[in-house]
Amino acid sequence: MASASYAAATHQAGPGESLRAGLRAATMAAHDLLDHAMQAASGWETREDYACFLALQHAAREPLEAWLAANAPADLVPPRQTPLIARDLAALDQTLPPSSPRFDPSQTPASPASVAAFHVEHASIGAAWVLAGSALGNKAIAKQVTRIGGGQWPLAFLGDEAMMGFWQDLRARIERPAAPAEAEGATRAAEAVFAHFLAVAEGGQASAITPESIPA
Ligand code: HEM
Repeated sequence: MASASYAAATHQAGPGESLRAGLRAATMAAHDLLDHAMQAASGWETREDYACFLALQHAAREPLEAWLAANAPADLVPPRQTPLIARDLAALDQTLPPSSPRFDPSQTPASPASVAAFHVEHASIGAAWVLAGSALGNKAIAKQVTRIGGGQWPLAFLGDEAMMGFWQDLRARIERPAAPAEAEGATRAAEAVFAHFLAVAEGGQASAITPESIPA
């Protein structure tokens, strides 16, 4: 198994807490771990590092986008970013990397037993939140890449405005309290997306990693 190790957070939503705040709290540790793993795997200090960063992003996102496109309600399918990443990689004279393993949050065993059966819309909200929310971090990274690359490196992915538009629409849906089953389903899917990404960043097998398979 990959060396992914973080305790899947057991976050209890407070009264009136928004779905977004709950998702952030539940996955904060996973995000920090992923941020560090990605900086360790590539970073973006040189043109080669940046190409490596984009290749990692492409490999990780392909199965996530495929699952959302095949399963999520239309308004929860974020704009695809892999074509933008492919364009950036081509501009850097790089070929496309192999995809990472299939992603399927419905295959995550439900535990504890009280968790309601898998609900595709709830899972879609969680998965869409992670991909769309990552555009916030991408904005910050884009500024650094612009500075380091002297404005010469391609930014189709990091500067993607379509994802920011999707993010603004999604906010209306997540900046309100959610029913416990929705919050639980969205959180588990978000954790699964982070685990998938982390496994790719660490060079492991994403399919082998689920929040349940990660020791607390
Ligand atoms: C590569 C290193 C990364 C860095 C430096 C980074 C940085 C950041 C920063 C600065 C924010 C806060 C932005 C703000 O509040 O304005 C953020 C939020 C977020 N990032 Fe990342 N990020 C990284 C990777 C990722 C990846 C790979 C994903 C997902 C696969 C991701 C998902 C998210 C999510 C879901 C949020 C929170 C959205 C919200 O506020 O609801 N990040 N990130």
